[in-house]
Amino acid sequence: MAAAPEAKFTEEQVLWVKQHTPKLMTFAITRPEAYRFSAGQFSRLGFRDGEGFIWRAYSIVSAEYADTLEYFAVLIENGPMSAKFAEMKTGDTILLDKTATGFLLPERFPDGKDLLMLATGSGIAPFLSILEQPEIWQRFDRLALVHSVSYVGELIFNDRLAALAEHPLIEEYFHKFHFIPVTTREQTGHTLGGKRIPELLKQNILAQQLGWQFNPTDTRFMVCGNPEMVKDTLQTLLDLGYTMHRNRLPGQILLENGF
Ligand SMILES: Cc1cc2nc3c(=O)[nH]c(=O)nc-3n(C[C@H](O)[C@H](O)[C@H](O)COP(=O)(O)OP(=O)(O)OC[C@H]3O[C@@H](n4cnc5c(N)ncnc54)[C@H](O)[C@@H]3O)c2cc1C
Ligand SMILES: NC(=O)c1ccc[n+]([C@@H]2O[C@H](COP(=O)([O-])OP(=O)(O)OC[C@H]3O[C@@H](n4cnc5c(N)ncnc54)[C@H](OP(=O)(O)O)[C@@H]3O)[C@@H](O)[C@H]2O)c1
Repeated sequence: MAAAPEAKFTEEQVLWVKQHTPKLMTFAITRPEAYRFSAGQFSRLGFRDGEGFIWRAYSIVSAEYADTLEYFAVLIENGPMSAKFAEMKTGDTILLDKTATGFLLPERFPDGKDLLMLATGSGIAPFLSILEQPEIWQRFDRLALVHSVSYVGELIFNDRLAALAEHPLIEEYFHKFHFIPVTTREQTGHTLGGKRIPELLKQNILAQQLGWQFNPTDTRFMVCGNPEMVKDTLQTLLDLGYTMHRNRLPGQILLENGF
């Protein structure tokens, strides 16, 4: 990603870093007063790197109204930004591009009753932010989040999702929510095991699990994660008769490649 010109970024402070597993971490940074974003968007974060900079995109995990900015990073072997994150500690300086971007915004759907959020790996991050916005709970009758990871130890947000039941802005709506964890390389008693998201859609397993009937009038799909998953899920949904949402041509599907 090209370096942002100097005037286009601010220098922020790392407030905390939490290493959940050797490759999964969350961290928070200071939020400039002027920094605005919509839940579902991503920031560009950077570091000075020798003579230049390194910049990468990270979906914002925090709510729009949060005082700080939180992120979730999957550390990639031999990845340049991952190496910076692996060394990062509280008090370090991190660069924040002044503009948040992205179109994975549930408010873009003008209609629909049931919102199905489909994520793999770090693709859960924008949905964690979206789920802290009361407007989305008022807007939809039912909300479901599907998070696919390879192994159960990678499901690090179970407690955070459960805590929405006591979130002051969300608790009254929490009964509308379903969380379906999926472990593709492991069978457990409490996750859907062994099948990837496109297969779960093709075989109608997700609808059965939720007790919903997916249909173009009511169901809206938001998809984020592994680009191959996004591509395969889009094709599956198109084959099932759904269409991409465009502002001038409303449909049922919104997508974002999570890397
Ligand atoms: C719109 C957008 C939002 C993003 N949001 C996040 C986020 O919230 N959290 C996050 O960890 N990353 C996110 N990424 C990816 C992130 O920008 C970096 O690519 C990633 O942190 C790895 O950086 P790197 O320099 O270590 O390796 P890179 O050289 O950037 O990547 C090396 C390879 O690692 C794989 N890879 C990259 N990112 C991931 C990932 N997240 N999960 C699995 N495999 C990956 C790809 O195959 C890639 O080619 C996002 C990317 C985009 C485009
Ligand atoms: N997780 C691992 O065991 C593993 C192993 C080797 C390397 N890596 C590397 O580690 C890094 C992070 O990986 P990650 O596991 O967080 O992210 P990831 O590889 O994107 O996997 C996250 C989830 O997405 C699923 N997925 C991958 N491709 C898909 C597709 N085309 N359609 C539907 N679902 C799909 C995975 O299923 P599957 O489990 O079926 O792939 C898994 O459930 C990446 O660089 C990856 O290449 C991971």
